[in-house]
Amino acid sequence: MINRVAIFVSGGGSNMKALVADMQADHPARVCVVVSNNEDSGGIAWAREHGIATEVVDHRPYGDDRASFEAELTTALNRHGPDMICLAGFMRVLTAGFVTPWHGKMINIHPSLLPKYTGLHTHARALNAGDKIHGCTVHEVTALLDDGPILGQSKIDVVMGDTPDTLAARVLVQEHRLYPAVLRRYCVGITSVLHL
Ligand code: GRF
Repeated sequence: MINRVAIFVSGGGSNMKALVADMQADHPARVCVVVSNNEDSGGIAWAREHGIATEVVDHRPYGDDRASFEAELTTALNRHGPDMICLAGFMRVLTAGFVTPWHGKMINIHPSLLPKYTGLHTHARALNAGDKIHGCTVHEVTALLDDGPILGQSKIDVVMGDTPDTLAARVLVQEHRLYPAVLRRYCVGITSVLHL
């Protein structure tokens, strides 16, 4: 059973807010810390305002030394005793050195129907490909970018006149439904694929 969830953010943290909002009442887990590489992250400001523990480890002083950055991240994280990690718009690639010890205990949300469109600019790529269906995916994290077993997906229709921004906005609505629903299941050991 998972009780303590760490959430990693780099930006506004709307997915983080959706996860925190759901971790109430009968939910088996609670957020134990919000971690960011970005002191100016809106997600960090929101967490502080809501009395949630935060840790910021700026990646920039470490340059290409990802191992040292990740070691500091681990030190910060371990102060809070998490059972698992939810990546929610965390914009640093984590190497095998960090990911491997969290195998089966770290999940991510990605704004595409994986395995399509790993990496960035997913909405523009879906449009350019002429896709009629687009969406988002929650998956377990492995050392490969946006890889790992799929835990849930939610689809939207691509309609005439869509732009990357309109797609992003509609996909984000689905992200906020899908991520909390998958986390609830994951906390009690359910890893079959959820279609929402
Ligand atoms: C989301 O689109 C998520 O899928 C991606 O980064 C974005 C983060 O948005 N990984 P937010 O910070 O949760 O609003």
